[in-house]
Amino acid sequence: MSIKEKLDFERIPKHVAVIMDGNGRWAKKKNLQRLEGHYAGAKAARNIVEAASEIGVKYITLYAFSIENWNRPKDEVAGLMALLIKSIAEQLNDLIKNNVRLKIIGDQKMLPKDVFNQINNVVEKSATNTGLTVVIALSYGSRYEIVSAVKNILSEYQKNPFDIDKFSENDFISHLYTKDIPDPELLIRTSGELRISNFLLWQISYSELYFTDVLWPDFDKEEFYKAIFDYQGRERRFGKTSEQIAMLK
Ligand code: IPE
Ligand code: IPE
Ligand code: MG
Repeated sequence: MSIKEKLDFERIPKHVAVIMDGNGRWAKKKNLQRLEGHYAGAKAARNIVEAASEIGVKYITLYAFSIENWNRPKDEVAGLMALLIKSIAEQLNDLIKNNVRLKIIGDQKMLPKDVFNQINNVVEKSATNTGLTVVIALSYGSRYEIVSAVKNILSEYQKNPFDIDKFSENDFISHLYTKDIPDPELLIRTSGELRISNFLLWQISYSELYFTDVLWPDFDKEEFYKAIFDYQGRERRFGKTSEQIAMLK
């Protein structure tokens, strides 16, 4: 029985977030340039989007480039930007054919103009698609997102003071990049690093975390289903006791 067949299709997470890490080490192991690792990583991303769609995941968020990644060597950053344009252009037809909606989260002001234009073209063209939503975190930093939200709220308050006591978590959420996206039930990080690296800090408050040593370019559909299977074995208690959870079943 394949791992996919073992999945409980009643309990597929709606939203899976992925920190796609390990491209550089994968390339190094094979005596290749780092950029070749990123190319292999882009292929893996395509596969995982397909895998997610096959089992009915509704949202997949892929951490492609962090705000901190702007500090990498110039060549690597330029290579990554070129790769982004290329893979999004190559995938445009498939995305449309497969009813996939593309969304971007991050500080887009920092992106080169051509990358910005190309990506937003696809975001617009796919906006009415109703299948899987692929969210690319690009030039993304979670602290930056939270501070931007606070700035928006303060400026709204300045223009139109409101009752601070009535301000709720939902009011706060409505200022995040992810305002229309449910929180991820599952966060996957590849390559053996056990950290979050400034990713979705607010949104993963109650996510299940899954870490694997597999390097991102080697992370295939089988590995993805393994992560989903592992998730399905967890008990999500949200502060309650095991007994309370059993009573709800
Ligand atoms: C992840 O792979 C991709 C990006 C951060 C863009 P890395 O490039 O971080 O790979 P390692 O961590 O050096 O192996
Ligand atoms: C995190 O990976 C960002 C992405 C996967 C795009 P990094 O490889 O940049 O993370 P750190 O800096 O090692 O934590
Ligand atoms: Mg890394």
